[in-house]
Amino acid sequence: MANFVKVAGTSDLKPGENKVVNVNGAEVALFNVDNEFFATTNICPHRGGPLGEGFLESDVVTCPWHGWRFNVNSSRHSGL
Ligand code: FES
Repeated sequence: MANFVKVAGTSDLKPGENKVVNVNGAEVALFNVDNEFFATTNICPHRGGPLGEGFLESDVVTCPWHGWRFNVNSSRHSGL
């Protein structure tokens, strides 16, 4: 059975915003894309940059360290 942990309310994140939260010791990146909410690991697969501190445009976040881009709704690499 899944355990749910409340880390934020929907009003804590406006459309186009993202933030990092801690869930039982793990950093998780939250994204609000037009009031749809997504959660991914905060760790960029390139070199561990903080995805939750990246630039969010539509449903694509750009890692702040080297600019790799990911779709937040699939975590698929979106090209450079
Ligand atoms: S660590 Fe994210 S692009 Fe390099």
